[in-house]
Amino acid sequence: SSFWAVVPAAGIGSRMAAALPKQYLEIAGKTILEHTIERLLSVESIERVVVALHPEDVHWNKLGCASHPRVSAVTGGAERAQSVALALEYIKGCAAQDVWVLVHDAARPCVRIEDIQRLMAAGEGALLAAPISDTVKRAERAQVIETLDRQQLWSAMTPQMFSLNQLHSALTSAAAKGQPVTDEASAIEFVGGRPRLVEASRDNIKVTRPEDLALAEMILTRQRE
Ligand code: CTP
Ligand code: MG
Repeated sequence: SSFWAVVPAAGIGSRMAAALPKQYLEIAGKTILEHTIERLLSVESIERVVVALHPEDVHWNKLGCASHPRVSAVTGGAERAQSVALALEYIKGCAAQDVWVLVHDAARPCVRIEDIQRLMAAGEGALLAAPISDTVKRAERAQVIETLDRQQLWSAMTPQMFSLNQLHSALTSAAAKGQPVTDEASAIEFVGGRPRLVEASRDNIKVTRPEDLALAEMILTRQRE
């Protein structure tokens, strides 16, 4: 079977509050988006990486990977799920048969190649994840209602891998019913699927807030050692 990757990179990074969208900030020698795309490209069985960009993006064309033969760019949407759906529609227009699609946040530049490869070997709809380490409270207006059973709780990461047709139809159904979708797995769950969790290194942080930049830089530097 064949594999494609989708990189949603159309966000504006409001929590980072930097001068540029966070995927264009430089850490460890290149932009976060370049680190992310290069990791996916280093997996040879990923045929192509489709990047979803903000409609007013002015930074993409300055990156070397913009002209890479295995990279394509499409215009994303107002929500992450819409950016992903638009990239899937592009793939439907050029991939010959159904393919496995790995959706991976632009903002996760530290994912390990071997974790991507273990995900691709799952042979079923699956996502990278890690067991949570905090004790988690469910609350209303800052008053605890209950403590959740930590044994059952995982942090969802990306990449998340599903068949192109299954994921596209799940995203379409969730959008039609107004169901909020914060990752691909939640759309699959909405239509009754039970995605597999593939345990991954905690290196795979999502760069979200200013303090995450130094942490990501440290992780990337350590990974080179
Ligand atoms: N994303 C996207 N299209 C959107 C919103 C987000 O492609 N309309 C992408 C982001 O570029 C990011 C990934 O989805 O790579 C995960 O989203 P998040 O970390 O929330 O990034 P932002 O939305 O840019 O950040 P914020 O929520 O702080 O504004
Ligand atoms: Mg966001």
